[in-house]
Amino acid sequence: MTEPNAHVVEIERDGPVALISFDNPPVNAASQALRQGLDTAIRQLADDDAIEVIALYGKGRSFIAGADIREFGKPPRAPGLTEVCNTVETCAKPVISVLHGVALGGGLEVALATHARVAVDGVSLGFPEVTLGIIPGAGGTQRAPRLTGIADALDLITTGRRIGAKEAHELGLVDRVETEGTPRELALTAARDVLSGALPTRRTREIEVAADDAALEAARARIAKRQPHLFSPLKAVDAVAASRRPYAEGEATERALFAECIDSPQRAGLVHAFFAERAVGKIPEVHAHPRAVHSIGVIGGGTMGSGIATAALLAGLDVTLAERDQEALDRGTATIAKNLEGAVKRGKIDDARRDAILSKALTATTDLEAFATCDLVIEAVFEDMEVKKDLFAQLDRICRDGAVLATNTSYLDVNEIAAVTRRPGDVLGLHFFSPAHVMRLLEVVVGEKTAPEVVATGFALARKLGKVAVRAGVCDGFIGNRILAHYKKAADYLMLDGASPQQIDRAMENFGFAMGPFAVSDLAGLDIGWAARKRLAPTRPEAERYNPVADRICERGWFGRKTGKGFYVYDGEGPRPNPEVDAIIDAARAEAGITPREFSEQEIVERYMTAMISEAARVLEDGIALRPIDIDAVFLFGYGFPRHHGGPMHYADTLGAHAILNRIQEYAKEDNHFWRIPQLLEELAAQDGTFAQMNRET
Ligand code: 3HC
Ligand code: NAI
Repeated sequence: MTEPNAHVVEIERDGPVALISFDNPPVNAASQALRQGLDTAIRQLADDDAIEVIALYGKGRSFIAGADIREFGKPPRAPGLTEVCNTVETCAKPVISVLHGVALGGGLEVALATHARVAVDGVSLGFPEVTLGIIPGAGGTQRAPRLTGIADALDLITTGRRIGAKEAHELGLVDRVETEGTPRELALTAARDVLSGALPTRRTREIEVAADDAALEAARARIAKRQPHLFSPLKAVDAVAASRRPYAEGEATERALFAECIDSPQRAGLVHAFFAERAVGKIPEVHAHPRAVHSIGVIGGGTMGSGIATAALLAGLDVTLAERDQEALDRGTATIAKNLEGAVKRGKIDDARRDAILSKALTATTDLEAFATCDLVIEAVFEDMEVKKDLFAQLDRICRDGAVLATNTSYLDVNEIAAVTRRPGDVLGLHFFSPAHVMRLLEVVVGEKTAPEVVATGFALARKLGKVAVRAGVCDGFIGNRILAHYKKAADYLMLDGASPQQIDRAMENFGFAMGPFAVSDLAGLDIGWAARKRLAPTRPEAERYNPVADRICERGWFGRKTGKGFYVYDGEGPRPNPEVDAIIDAARAEAGITPREFSEQEIVERYMTAMISEAARVLEDGIALRPIDIDAVFLFGYGFPRHHGGPMHYADTLGAHAILNRIQEYAKEDNHFWRIPQLLEELAAQDGTFAQMNRET
C-alpha cells in the first residue's frame, strides 16, 4: 500500500494502534502536502481491519502551528483544512492527538476534531487567527464552544491569547496533561488507554452548546472599545454565536465569515506585518558570527539608559550602569528598580528574581573604568556630539579588545563618533525606543566601517532582548526619526493652514494609530523636538515653511505631560485640549498671513500619509533601509503604526504609486519645496510597480 506523502505525513503501525506523525519543518504548518497526507492516512486506516485506534502527533518542534500562512491570498488547493478536520472527526475509529510545542489556529482545530486530546506540559495552544485578520476557518469557532462554553471560546478566539496545558485542561479543551515522555511515546500510551477504556473518546460536534447571550454581547462591547478598527474579531463573535445551531449550519456560517475575512485588506496588512517581523532578520551580515555578549555596560541612567538596562537585566545579562555623579546614579537605579517592580506586577518575574537581579546582576558606578571587562557598552548620554565623542575616546582607552561600542543616539552621525576611536569597526548605533524595556524596535545603525560580526552581534543582542532589529544606514534620524521629522512637518502645516491639533490627532487615531502626533509629542516631551529644531535651524533652507507653535509652547515652559501642559492639559481628569494653544496658533497664522480653511478627516490622513510615504521612498533611494519591508517593521514596532495597514510601504501599495504621485503633484502647487516627487516613486509609477516587488527582488 502506498504511504501518504511519506516525507510529510507518516504512518507507523503497532498492533491495533496506528500512529500518524507530521514532519513539515520548521513548525509543521498545515500545508497542502500535510492536509492531503493526513486526509489520505485517515481514510486508509479507516479501511484497515487490523487497526482499532489512531493517534496523531508532530515530529520536531511542534504538533501543528496552524494553516500555512504563505498560502493565504493564493487560489485554495484541495483538500481544505475543514474537510480534513471532518475526515478526522467522522472517522468510525477513535482518533486522538498528542499536542506538544505549539498547536495554534488550524493545528488546534485538527486537535479539536480528534476524539480525545493529550497536552504535553509546555505546549502553547491558541487561536491567533484574529491577529492575522481572519477567524478560525476549520471548525474552530464551532468546536471550541462545544468544549469550553461560549464565554471562554470567545475569549480565546477574539483575543488570540495563547494558553498552556494546565489552563487548556481546566477549560475542557484537552482531556489529559502529561509532563514526561516523547510525543510518540505518549501517543502510543494514550492509544492503548483508549483500547482499555482508560481514556474515553467522543466526537466534539455531538456536544450541545449552552446559550450565553450575555457573553456574546460583552465580547462585542469589548471589541468596540479595544479593537474598534479591526474587522475580523466581530466576525469571530458571529461565528461563535452560530455554534448553537446544528453543526453543519454553524460550519457553513463560519465558512462564509472566514471567506469575507480572507479577502479583506486587513488580512493582507496583518499577514504582511507577521512576515515583516521575520524578514528584517535577513541581512547581508547573516553569515557573520556574532561576538558573545554576557555583560553589558550602559552609560547614562536617564530615560533611555535605565530602560535599556532594565531590558538587558530581564533578559538575564549582567549590567554595569554608569552615571556622572552619585545623585544621577541613584536616580537611574531607582528607575530600574521601579521598572522591575512593574515586571513583577505583570507576572514577568517574581520577587526573588527581582531581588537577585538588583543584588547580583546590576552593578552601579560613577567610574567608567568598570567597563574594562564588558562585552558590549551602550552609550545613552545627552544628545550632544561633543559629549559623545569625549565618551567614546575614553571607552576606546578602557574597553577590552573585541568589545562592541554602541551609541543610542537618535540623530547624530555614527561615523563621526566612531572616528574618535582606534576601532571604528567595533562601533555601531543601537537605537532603542522609549520606553526601552517595552518598545520592541531596535534600529541597528551600521556605520561605514562597522564590521559584519559587530552588526551580527547587534542582531543577536536584539533577539536575546526579545526585540525586532532592523538594519539602518547612517543619516540624520536613521530610518524612523528621519521619516517622522518629515511627516511631522506635514502635520504642522495642516495646523497652520486651519486644522486643529485635536482634529489631526483624531483623524490619525481613526486611521488606527493609538495616538495622534500631537498627543505623542506631549508624551515624549516637547523639549526633545525643540532641541532638534534648534540644532537644525542654521541649516534650514530659506524656502521651507516653518510652524513656530511648538516652540512657543515650549517657551512657556510647557513640555507636555511631564509639565502638566502641552498641546493638551493633564490635570488628572484625562487629557483635554489646552485652550491657551488656540491663541498661539491664531497668532502664528496671522503672522504668516494665513486665512485658515477647513480640512476633512480624509484630507488630513491623505496629506499625512503621503508625506510619510514620500520620505520613506527617499530613505530607500538613499540605501538607508535595505527593503520597503524594513521600513514597515520600523513603523509597526517603533511608532505604533496600525498593524492592519501593514506599515507605510504596504499601505502605499494599496493606494498605488500613481495615486500617490498625483497627490504630491497636487500639493506641490501650494508648496513645491516640501512636496517633491521621490525618483523611486516616479520609477515605480512608470513601471506600474509596487514596493512589494522590491521586497522580493532584494
Ligand atoms: N505558516 C507558514 N510559515 C510559518 C507559520 C505558518 N503558520 N508559522 C511560522 N512560519 C515560518 C516563519 O515565517 C519562519 O519562516 P522563516 O524562517 O522563513 O522566517 C519560520 O516558520 C519559523 O518561525 P518563527 O521564526 O516565528 O519561529 P518561532 O520558533 O519563534 O515561533 C511559532 C514559532 C510560535 C509557530 C510562530 O512562528 C507563530 O506564531 N506562527 C504563527 C502561528 C499562527 O498564526 N497560526 C495560525 C495560522 S492561521 C490558521 O491556522 C487558519 C485556520 O483557522 C484555517
Ligand atoms: P536623559 O537626559 O534622560 O538621560 C541622559 C543621562 O546621561 C542623564 O542622566 C545624565 O546624567 C547622563 N550623562 C550625561 N553625560 C554623562 C557622562 N559623561 N557620563 C555618564 N552619564 C552621563 O536623556 P535620554 O532621553 O535618556 O537620551 C539619551 C540618549 O538616547 C540621547 O542620545 C537621545 O537622543 C537618545 N534617545 C532618546 C530617546 C527618548 O525618547 N528619550 C529615544 C531614543 C534615543
